[in-house]
Amino acid sequence: MKDYLDKDPWKIVENSLHTDYNEVSESIASLGNGRLGGRGNFEERFNGPSLQGNYIAGVYYPDKTKVGWWKNGYPEYFAKVINSVNWIGMDVWIDGEDFELFPDQIKEFRAELDMKEGILRRTTVAELPNGKQIKIESERFYSMVDKDNAYLKYSLTPLNFSGEVCIAPYLDFNVINRDSNYEEGFWKRNDEGIDQRWGYVYSQTKKTAYHVLAGMKINTMLNGQSIALDYDAVKQNSFVEYQPKLKLNEGETFTIEKYCCICSSLYHEVSTLSESCQSQLEQSFEEGFEKAKIKHINKWDSIWNDCDISINGDVSAQQGIRFNIFQLYQTYNGDDARLNIGPKGFTGEKYGGVTYWDTEAYCLPFYLSTTDQSVAKNLLIYRYRHLQKAIENATKLGFSHGAALYPMVTMNGEECHNEWEITFEEIHRNGAIAYAIYDYIRYTGDNEHLKDYGLEVLIAISRFWRQRVNWSEPKQKFVILGVTGPNEYENNVNNNWYTNYIACWCMQYTMEAIAYVEQSHPEAYKNLCEKLDFNAKYESTRWQEIIDSMYLPSDKERAVFLQQDGFLDKNLMPAKNIPADEYPIHQNWSWDRILRSCFIKQADVLQGLYFFEDHFDKETIKRNFNFYEPLTVHESSLSPCVHAILAAKIGNYPKAYEMYLRTARLDLDDYNNDTKDGLHITSMAGTWMSVIKGFGGMRIINDTLSFDPFIPENWSSYSFKIKFRSHTLKLIVSHEGVNILNLSDEKIEILLKGQKQSIFPKEVQTIS
Ligand code: BGC
Repeated sequence: MKDYLDKDPWKIVENSLHTDYNEVSESIASLGNGRLGGRGNFEERFNGPSLQGNYIAGVYYPDKTKVGWWKNGYPEYFAKVINSVNWIGMDVWIDGEDFELFPDQIKEFRAELDMKEGILRRTTVAELPNGKQIKIESERFYSMVDKDNAYLKYSLTPLNFSGEVCIAPYLDFNVINRDSNYEEGFWKRNDEGIDQRWGYVYSQTKKTAYHVLAGMKINTMLNGQSIALDYDAVKQNSFVEYQPKLKLNEGETFTIEKYCCICSSLYHEVSTLSESCQSQLEQSFEEGFEKAKIKHINKWDSIWNDCDISINGDVSAQQGIRFNIFQLYQTYNGDDARLNIGPKGFTGEKYGGVTYWDTEAYCLPFYLSTTDQSVAKNLLIYRYRHLQKAIENATKLGFSHGAALYPMVTMNGEECHNEWEITFEEIHRNGAIAYAIYDYIRYTGDNEHLKDYGLEVLIAISRFWRQRVNWSEPKQKFVILGVTGPNEYENNVNNNWYTNYIACWCMQYTMEAIAYVEQSHPEAYKNLCEKLDFNAKYESTRWQEIIDSMYLPSDKERAVFLQQDGFLDKNLMPAKNIPADEYPIHQNWSWDRILRSCFIKQADVLQGLYFFEDHFDKETIKRNFNFYEPLTVHESSLSPCVHAILAAKIGNYPKAYEMYLRTARLDLDDYNNDTKDGLHITSMAGTWMSVIKGFGGMRIINDTLSFDPFIPENWSSYSFKIKFRSHTLKLIVSHEGVNILNLSDEKIEILLKGQKQSIFPKEVQTIS
């Protein structure tokens, strides 16, 4: 665990450069606006560890698969959201000499990620080998309003000398991915150009042919006032640079405002890319840096107004939760159903910005409660649009008649994961996609979604389950063989309880959805049956047979569900017996030792109890929690949040708090020693859930919003807002009780600790 950042409720501050952790700091200081994003790299050339990263949502490259032993059915490629144009770059010359930032030259350093405003600021004082001291100040942001635009202000002040300074802003498309499988370049150069009006670089991805044109304009300033300068403009392959110079007296400041616009063919016709880029640049230049910044800050203000969680009495927890919320909104803000939420967002290369089951299982509830309903809906439509590919995927694996297996990892609907035990076996992901439909409808009441999109997806998923089960003669039950459950520290197991349970649930829910659509939209239902060649009577009967006779492993003596067949044969011991220096076990143990052990990577049976908690009584949840949690090593970032929520549910508040702390500061404190690869974006939504569903006890019970809050001992109070259908509520929870404020115009009935309460508009209701 690293603890080198200042604790502040709204800022992440690094007060001196920690060179060894620089790649961790770069991940943490990442910025984004849902469309563009990048790591917190330095603008000038830096002589220290660094992973350069600038990304564009949806712009990916199919990197040819590299595996040791090819298995039939493996995808040909892994999709990567790739490193894109470096727009922040600044070359610096001081009295004609190249300046490169060396860590040992740094005298003062402060990097500040301002989460309230969405701005990254840095101040550096450096002393060059010849004794000259300079101060560099920079601030930058990706506009949350004009989403193709990015802004940078970069200033340099000579502190103990007078001389000539050149600050040269550039755009550079000569970029590579560190994780490229065959050290290939992913971009093909199209063109570049520069004159006094603007400079641009223009490339396209190989194979996928996304066109990206990045343009820049600059404003030069002396001591805060614009100053017209004549300067050189340099052009090389995929690189353009302005080279303005200024003679400065000691203490004078030379500033460059760099206006950038990064247009991709995802949002602009290829034929108009250049025109769109130029005209957006002109507009933002006209508007000016400060005005664009205010617009951007105001947008963040309104986002925070809806989704902030405020914690009093624990600045570390406060900083942690805001960091999570901030990074989530920087990654995805839901205005485009073609986009999704990569586990690392725009903060690194690992997991390539692609989509996992994380979105449905962990991220959806965050967006459901904190923003407009259309955002969560877009996440569902994303999967609806991929349905045909999911059917093709299942067909390739030998399934038929419209059965769909959604991919474990995808960009465009095609599977691109390539480890057999996950690609072919971690089929529970289909369940999460069905569950998200249910979760969305339960929350929003938007039943129409079933008619328009949901039912078609559900039928295809249920068709898959029907073909994936088989009848076991000895057991006289249906079984599901050869799977990997959410706990990836077990592979190729039989009858993973979670998978078997969610498979049945999917079929059950599909039948309920059919009944609803058939009754309320008979015409649409008839059309769908024709389109899908769906014989409801026949297929539902088969589904019901499976539901009635599914094998669900359990242990009578302990009265717990069994993670899989044979789980009790393992040498059971608590994870706390593992010596501290052997954590994380996936980095320290051989794989076979992990597979044979009883240790669990992330919630598995407990994931099922979390999804379906209203199917089980509290005692059952408690027994299973007390059996499985001690065996769990939480080596997936997705694990602690589920445990926090269940611990709160069974009244184990200290455990709930312990689990919350593990998720909230996972990246800030680099718990898993992997933040340098990028942030754990999808688990950040789990952190939010730990507070809202865990501490706040929020649930939807029969269309009614329900809370069962508690407060961790060392917090004095916490508050949050929830959007629910046409209502917005604010809850303030303290040791004295709960204040509920209804911010909408209509009364709302809620449940508080199981009791009905009417909360009237614009009134605060205090409940001790
Ligand atoms: C987890 C998966 C998850 C993936 C991406 C893995 O470590 O085990 O459940 O989907 O990370 O976040």
